[in-house]
Amino acid sequence: MQKIRVGIIMGGMSSEREVSLESGRNIFSKIDRKKYQPTPIFMDSQAALWEIPVKLLMRNSTKDIEEDLSVDAVPVAYEALRERVDVVCLGLHGKYGEDGCMQGLLELLRIPYTGSGVLASALGMDKFVSRKILAIYGIDTPKTLHICKSRWESEKKADVIGQITKEIGFPCVVKPSREGCSTAVKKIVSKDGISEALSFAFKWDNTALVEEFIVGMEVTCGVIGTDSPYALIPSETIPTGNVLSLEDKFLYGQGENKTPARLPDEVIKKIQEIAVQTFCTLDLKGYARIDMFVRTDGRVTVLESNTLPGMTPSTVLFHQAAASGITQAGLIDGIIEAALKVHANKRGPL
Ligand SMILES: Nc1ncnc2c1ncn2[C@@H]1O[C@H](COP(=O)(O)OP(=O)(O)O)[C@@H](O)[C@H]1O
Ligand SMILES: [Mg+2]
Repeated sequence: MQKIRVGIIMGGMSSEREVSLESGRNIFSKIDRKKYQPTPIFMDSQAALWEIPVKLLMRNSTKDIEEDLSVDAVPVAYEALRERVDVVCLGLHGKYGEDGCMQGLLELLRIPYTGSGVLASALGMDKFVSRKILAIYGIDTPKTLHICKSRWESEKKADVIGQITKEIGFPCVVKPSREGCSTAVKKIVSKDGISEALSFAFKWDNTALVEEFIVGMEVTCGVIGTDSPYALIPSETIPTGNVLSLEDKFLYGQGENKTPARLPDEVIKKIQEIAVQTFCTLDLKGYARIDMFVRTDGRVTVLESNTLPGMTPSTVLFHQAAASGITQAGLIDGIIEAALKVHANKRGPL
């Protein structure tokens, strides 16, 4: 049997590039080599692609890799990618990798890729627009105010702060509209913190969200599949600070997840139903992880969907898969198989 050539793309230009490196090299190490022939492909900070040898893959950081690319790696022009791989497995996270940009490039190059298509990826990344769509379908999302940088700079700050106080209240959470890994996510307890939090959020995006602070249990649930997606067993996330930090989510020994979440069966079932509903409403493909809260009044509120969730060794998605008897290699295999199938059957960009 001819092995399927998989280009695993990792690194990239987003604030999540170090996590992406961990995801990419974990996929490279766990992928079933009887079936697949994997190639690690590093996306540098200028969006150029490089085929990297294992000695570069094992470096500590994307910066360390980048320093030696010209000596140890082979540059891969976009147009040459199609001759080298049968499918791209996306280990990227965040801007330009998870938000539809990379997906658009791969569509133009006619290369199948894992995960969601162009629009669904862009929607998954944009917390404001995705909430609008979920709300149309009756899915509960946090009460959210959308503030543009231009408005913040041109209008009287007191007016904007007045609107936040009236419509959202305190405590609230301020964050950029399209970021990941808790970048610039701040909990604000009074008017005094708003200005600084918004200015900080605007370093990452030209729009920021101010949303109600949700009290309850934070849960997260993987969804897999394409034609008839199904939910994995949801986990409970236990933050170590006010908001889950990058370290909580991806580094060993930091933060805590409990799978299954310590909730009654009927609540677990409700979480799973809402996770699948969110997946279908946003037209996600292959796999995703939906972050939610179970509020103290019992409502299940969708915080966000992650269209290329972390694939690091310790990530919660693998715990959930394991709870259903799926190994890391098995999950990666399922995601690539789904990509091959969905791209073979599409009638235009995914
Ligand atoms: N409205 C909120 N209420 C309570 N906690 C929140 C809220 N928004 C974010 N958080 C906390 O911050 C974390 C990161 O926020 P999130 O919106 O998921 O951003 P990211 O895309 O960076 O993961 C969440 O996992 C949660 O712990
Ligand atoms: Mg999140």
